[in-house]
Amino acid sequence: MESETEQLYRVAVDAQGNAHCPYSKYPVGAALRTASGAVFSGCNVENAAYPLGSCAEAGAIAAMVLAGERDIVELVTVTNGPLVGTPCGGCRQRIREFAAPTTVVHSAIGTGLADPGTITMTMADLLPESFGPQNLTNP
Ligand code: THU
Repeated sequence: MESETEQLYRVAVDAQGNAHCPYSKYPVGAALRTASGAVFSGCNVENAAYPLGSCAEAGAIAAMVLAGERDIVELVTVTNGPLVGTPCGGCRQRIREFAAPTTVVHSAIGTGLADPGTITMTMADLLPESFGPQNLTNP
């Protein structure tokens, strides 16, 4: 039977297939699971005005927030290989906004989660000593 992580991988691969990346030709898919068990996905969407492009993780997070959810438990990104693409710095901060230190992020390529190249890290390892919502709470 498919595990929850395998499900996220499959959904991320589907999302990668819809990426709009005519400029970089580097499709990315992301899928995340929230504390409620709901799954949201996104792909990168580039623009002829290059800086306006958005990352796959940003799309998945936007879909999650639109649905009224806030707590990311696990997230999978899929990029093309052979080098696995981990979330960019900006996306680490985007994920962190809705993550716990223990949130797990898997960075995979199209050959499957079990590929030895897959990189699995916690949020705390992806963005150590991070700045987040707690920093802005008034005493
Ligand atoms: N990209 C993502 O979607 N997520 C990342 O974390 C890294 C980069 C996209 C942005 C751009 O469309 C393409 O990959 C090449 O940078």
